[in-house]
Amino acid sequence: EERHETKALRQRLLVVANRLPVSAVRKGEDVWSLEISAGGLVSALLGVKEFEARWIGWAGVNVPDEIGQKALTKALAEKRCIPVFLDEEIVHQYYNGYCNNILWPLFHYLGLPQEDRLATTRSFQSQFEAYEKANQMFADVVNKHYEEGDVVWCHDYHLMSLPKCLKKHNKNMKVGWFLHTPFPSSEIHRTLPSRSELLHFVLAADLVGFHTYDYARHFVSACTRILGLEGTPYGVEYQGKLTRVAAFPIGIDSERFIRALDHPRVQDHIKELQERFKGRKVMLGVDRLDMIKGIPQKILAFEKFLEEDPYWRDKVVLLQIAVPTRTDVPEYQKLTSQVHEIVGRINGRFGTLTTVPIHHLDRSLDFYQLCALYAVTDVALVTSLRDGMNLVSYEFVACQEKKKGVLILSEFAGAAQSLGAGAILVNPWNVTEVAAAIARALKMPSAEREKRHKHNFLHVTSHTAQEWAGTFVSELNDTVIEAQLRTRQ
Ligand code: G6P
Repeated sequence: EERHETKALRQRLLVVANRLPVSAVRKGEDVWSLEISAGGLVSALLGVKEFEARWIGWAGVNVPDEIGQKALTKALAEKRCIPVFLDEEIVHQYYNGYCNNILWPLFHYLGLPQEDRLATTRSFQSQFEAYEKANQMFADVVNKHYEEGDVVWCHDYHLMSLPKCLKKHNKNMKVGWFLHTPFPSSEIHRTLPSRSELLHFVLAADLVGFHTYDYARHFVSACTRILGLEGTPYGVEYQGKLTRVAAFPIGIDSERFIRALDHPRVQDHIKELQERFKGRKVMLGVDRLDMIKGIPQKILAFEKFLEEDPYWRDKVVLLQIAVPTRTDVPEYQKLTSQVHEIVGRINGRFGTLTTVPIHHLDRSLDFYQLCALYAVTDVALVTSLRDGMNLVSYEFVACQEKKKGVLILSEFAGAAQSLGAGAILVNPWNVTEVAAAIARALKMPSAEREKRHKHNFLHVTSHTAQEWAGTFVSELNDTVIEAQLRTRQ
């Protein structure tokens, strides 16, 4: 028993993701301040506590000089983080280019870039080469810090060739890879020029994980249809072994949110917000300003609702927090102006001298402000056009024990499979349907709200980030042991 415990305590985990849970801001030649990064991946990984985990990733800044690199490495070490330094050119080609202009939209069913096909086709190759080069840079850092017995957990679409790089260097390394986005239908994946390479790279891992069963199935179909491999209910036969493929739905650290609600800072914010929006129902959207989040569609649905139901015009407010993201990618810049234009038009149309129907913020909020907002919200609107899981919906539910507000949730978010019974599910492309869902949510009787909330709250508090990580890592350990037993036979 005792030996088992020491072993469990010493289970070291190397978590490798493009973005570290903290991003660095330079304050002086050798002075750095660290801020929590945005996004679902980080939100979940912060909840992973049981392991002796170390994080390897990019700190979100270019640090060309040695003094800066040394100081940042030291500051990050206190947070158990190890930086991978990427220069501007690599960031441009790998992060802005291949990851966020090609893979991200494709995996969310938005297709490959359409404009200037020739230029895009030419740059595919160089961006893909940069992608492979960047992945090798991550692998070099992992290899440097790896100790025998470590489990290496690679994350997301940025690092699809990492499993291959790691296994090439050390075939005994335990390597898992988890995708935080949807994996699209194989018919979408096959349009990608480097479709086969990416599948081969990922199959080098021992365990491949997705948020939902559907994504796992799409991945296995891509391997069978594009590579002609044998798929089984457990995974894919690959080079004489089984690469295990399975679904591991992610969660949040719900306790952290529930506890925060009693914090005096959150209580103060709650009072301020209640005062500010007295007599009005509060509707909330919290998204990174990304085309997959369906922000323009959501705002247009809100406009339609106001248009059809004048009664509500001065009795409801939509707070939309749009966290800036990937601001060097032109598609994201276009989206910002588009959203601003729609918000301006609607506020001009339905605003009065003292109030506007939409409060739109282009920035992030601190954790306490965010918890307070979730707590005072009557109706949350999560209308992603596609979303791997969407943890904003989970965070909202965690903060609603008192209010028991309504969640309107896109059927194209992974979360629809877990919170579907408690939420009002909508097709975000159908503005009329979303407008009707808003009306229904605002008028929903409290007994129904309570019932729906209870369902979701139970799910969010029992399927946590900790449980997700624990299941993935123990499955990875089992997979490797099984494979060893099979080779010995
Ligand atoms: C999504 C991705 C993450 C990413 C996050 C924020 O959640 O799955 O890998 O970190 O968005 O995006 P960014 O590009 O700022 O890291």
